[in-house]
This record gives sequence, C-alpha cells and structure tokens, in this order.
Amino acid sequence: MTPDILITENVGGKWIDELKKKFAVTIEPDWWKSPDKIKAMLPGCRALIVRNQTRVNADLLSAATNLEVIGRAGAGLDNIELAAATAKGIVVVSTPDQNSISVAELAIGMMLGLARKIPAANQHAHGGGWERQRFVGTELYGKNFGVVGLGRIGFLTALRARALGMNILAHDNYISPDAVTVAETRAELLGLDELLFQSDFVSCHVPLTQETKHFFNYERFCRMKPSAFFLNLARGEVVDESGLIRALQEKKISGAGLDVREQEPPAASALASMDNVILTPHIAAFTREAQDRVLAAVCQDVTAVLEGRAAKNFVNFPKPKTSPPKSGGS
Ligand code: MLT
Repeated sequence: MTPDILITENVGGKWIDELKKKFAVTIEPDWWKSPDKIKAMLPGCRALIVRNQTRVNADLLSAATNLEVIGRAGAGLDNIELAAATAKGIVVVSTPDQNSISVAELAIGMMLGLARKIPAANQHAHGGGWERQRFVGTELYGKNFGVVGLGRIGFLTALRARALGMNILAHDNYISPDAVTVAETRAELLGLDELLFQSDFVSCHVPLTQETKHFFNYERFCRMKPSAFFLNLARGEVVDESGLIRALQEKKISGAGLDVREQEPPAASALASMDNVILTPHIAAFTREAQDRVLAAVCQDVTAVLEGRAAKNFVNFPKPKTSPPKSGGS
C-alpha cells in the first residue's frame, strides 16, 4: 500500500508516532541509498521526509505526482533541488534553527579538544600511559576565533567563544556591520585573507552552494598561522579535503576538527591516522534536545500542509497547482 508519508532516512520517536495517528507512514531508513526505490513508491505519496542524505533532485521529483510537501529534518538545503520542488508546486519545510545550539556546542567541544589534545591524551591514558609532557596544549583565552559565516550557527558559536574570553573575528559577505550578531559578539568584520592571517582558530559556518564548494582550499590553508586550527561543522564539500590533508602534512596548520566530510560516509583517508585531527560522523545536530525540536517542527509543518494549513518554517513559495482541465462532456 502506498503511504501518505514516506520517510527515507533514520527518523523515529514520539513525533513520528504522532504523525502515524493521522497518516499512513512508511519509514525506510536506508532508501536514501536507493533513489529507484523511492521513485517507485513516490507517485502515491503526499509527503516525503528526509535528513541530509536523500538527494531530492529533479529526477526523483519527476515521480512525485501527488507530493504536497517535503520535510527536511535539519537546516542545510543542499540536498533539495528547490527550483524543481517549487516548479511542481511542492512546499519545502525545514528546521532552520532547531539544532543550531547543538552544532555550536560541538564546535566549542572540538576547539577545546584540539587545543588541549583531549582525544590523543585520552587514548594515551586509556592505554596506561602517563607522559604528561606530550600533551602540553594552548589556552583559548585571549586567542582569536575567526568565524567564516556569521549566520545562526556561526553567531551562536562565536557567542560561546566570546564567553571563553576569545576575540571574535568574522568574515561574511552578506552581513551588515550594524547586524545584531556583530554587536552581540563584538566581532571585528574582516576580509577573508586578513581573518585567515590573524585567527588562532578558523571555524567554517557557510552553507554549501555553487559559490562555496571547495571554498577552503590548500592556498587558503597556507594563509593561516602554522599554529592555527581549522573547524568544519557545516558541509564537507566546502573544503577541498586533499588540500586540507596536504596543509596538515606540510604543517601549514596545526590541526583540524571535522564533523562533515567531502564524501559521507567517507572513504579511507590520511586524516584518520592524524592525531591532531578530530573526526566525528556528522553528529553535530545529534543531541536529544535538538532532535526533539527538529522532529517536532518538521512533523508539525508536514501535518499543517497536509491539513491545508500554513507551515511555520516553509522555504519556498511553490507555484499553485493547476487542477486538471475538466472534460467537456456532452
Ligand atoms: C543540518 O543541516 O541541520 C545538519 O547538518 C544535520 C543534518 O543534516 O541533518
């Protein structure tokens, strides 16, 4: 039987149980790997709910003859071809801010982990080691935190870095010097090169777009201080990973913290054997609190659209669907 709502990634919990009271819901956690399976089921579905792994592109949507709404359980929209959804009259809803605090907290955690070599020291102590001199770190206090992209997550991360006594440097081509985010973080707005040159930590918070693909490349890493660390909890493809590996191997920078990768799940990489690199499997948004907020918001908005009400976190303004022409009759 075709469900009302198809979910093609690992999503569950009490908000999905609520959805099931009103609609027929099918959850296929691995179907993001099999677009053909999604295409086969999509024609009868009224809603599709995804995280970041399902590629919702024009080809997939060509099968979406009844789809009214796509729910993106997360903030990034790089896996959704918005123009294709809009052209087909499909509303896209997302959760733009519901996981921002969790991402900001992991960024600060990674920064502390890198500065104090926590993962390597932990591994050493678990193995019975006690060579304290190997783990002399650096303080965050008084250091320059360079945030590239002062949007919601960049702002919350910078605010927390400020609370640790860091100076905030920011680069964002789309922000006014009068923005409240600049005032609240007391950020100094700089050109990118100047920010890279001055920062002790550079944290990437830009979305993936055509403009930002491989934005951080070898040349840009070479402009950073050899003592500096790089953080990416945004999107993997914003970084040219081969350029990052080369910069780390040549000691152009001191280390990196990566929650996202150019390819997910990643292939074997030199990064995995570097003890000055912290790797996590795209878990920045994976806290109980963030997931509760994300799933509440996306399920409520999907329900709203299916019941003919307005969604709170809609992303596009779809063209109204035209009803099929009435047959002339006799
Ligand atoms: C987001 O875009 O919200 C996070 O990266 C988490 C996700 O993609 O689901």
